[in-house]
Amino acid sequence: MTSAIQDLQGLNFNLSEEHLAVQEAARDFAQTELLPGVIDRDNAQQFPTEQVKRMGELGFLGMMVSPEYGGGGMDTVSYAIAIEEISKIDASASVIMSVNNSLVCYGLEAFGTEEQKQKYLTKLASGAMLGAFCLSEPEAGSDATSQSTTADDKGDHYVINGTKNWITNGGSSGVALVIAQTDREKKHRGINCLIVEKGTPGFVVGKKEDKLGIRASDTHSLLFTDVKVPKENRIGEDGFGFKFAMSTLNGGRIGIAAQALGIAAGAYELALKYSQERKAFGKAIFEHQAIQFKLAEMATKIEAARLLVYKAARLKDEQKDYVQAAAMAKLYASEIAMWATTEAVQIHGGYGFVKEFHVERCMRDAKITQIYEGTSEIQKLVIARELIR
Ligand code: CAA
Repeated sequence: MTSAIQDLQGLNFNLSEEHLAVQEAARDFAQTELLPGVIDRDNAQQFPTEQVKRMGELGFLGMMVSPEYGGGGMDTVSYAIAIEEISKIDASASVIMSVNNSLVCYGLEAFGTEEQKQKYLTKLASGAMLGAFCLSEPEAGSDATSQSTTADDKGDHYVINGTKNWITNGGSSGVALVIAQTDREKKHRGINCLIVEKGTPGFVVGKKEDKLGIRASDTHSLLFTDVKVPKENRIGEDGFGFKFAMSTLNGGRIGIAAQALGIAAGAYELALKYSQERKAFGKAIFEHQAIQFKLAEMATKIEAARLLVYKAARLKDEQKDYVQAAAMAKLYASEIAMWATTEAVQIHGGYGFVKEFHVERCMRDAKITQIYEGTSEIQKLVIARELIR
């Protein structure tokens, strides 16, 4: 798929030598350090501890954070390129990376205080600590303003009570950004985001989810009972929490779009290779038009998804409005990820249905990209609202 990147260069996307170097580094890392054991980790739901440590050492956990806080100081396009390459091989690793980079690190750097950045961002950017982003609740997924978790204002501190669900990095993070309702009368303008350290009394890691896909990432519920958090751990002004969550998710959606793109592209590459090796009716199955058509359509849609992802990333880098572009990229990339991975399984036939050939995992992993960081239906809502804004 390198040629595709060069094609984009031809379209004046101005991909630099640096972007291509990031792509090569991410591809090498994925091939040499993520591919071995990826099936076993998926089977056992085993968190990739060693691999995440290496991602930190290689700078993949704080790619866009400015160097003064220990990050890579890279642009969003570089980040999307790295996520795509890593997702081709291991979507569990890429969601761990995506949440840390685009929800937690970005949120802290864009909206945190200098003290919060020194205390938390420096550790998160280097991978010394992972972060979690806690918005979803048992009764608040798409309807994110309906927060049941409360953060009562007690003068110099808040007291949090409630439950958060489906939290990526829930068990492995050292710090959690927790969205909670302080003043219910003010509705979404009465919501705050608080930085809560692991180990704070009353903060308990709950059930680990047994998932269809991205099984090596750890997804937990988090329970908060009378958790005391100092006021200096609030991000932004009083009542900024919902705006914080929405603004951060705009960028997060570029990360998940890139993940979906990578899952699709990884499955496509496996199917293309297999189609040239597998013989049926006296010739490689690639020679059969039924298979050629599938691969041609996959390649076309993957390329279209890549253009949308890079467009959104480029707009963000140029500090232009990217809300709609990010939603379009996530909607399209996740829809084609589900479709392309299903086609990849079909091209593999019976082999596609067994774990050894990887494509069934790609198909299982693809599904969540249509759900998290805003379902496809929510992306359509965001896109439609922007049409008449
Ligand atoms: N960017 C910035 N601000 C936004 C925004 C956006 N994309 N969308 C809404 N807002 C702001 C609005 O401006 C408004 O603020 P003001 O009143 O101050 O102007 C406020 O948020 C409320 O907006 P709405 O009235 O539009 O709220 P709504 O309830 O009608 O709809 C929604 C909001 C778009 C549906 C939102 O609830 C949403 O995005 N839901 C999906 C939640 C989601 O993506 N969850 C992902 C969980 S995190 C995760 O998955 C991480 C992981 O583990 C991988």
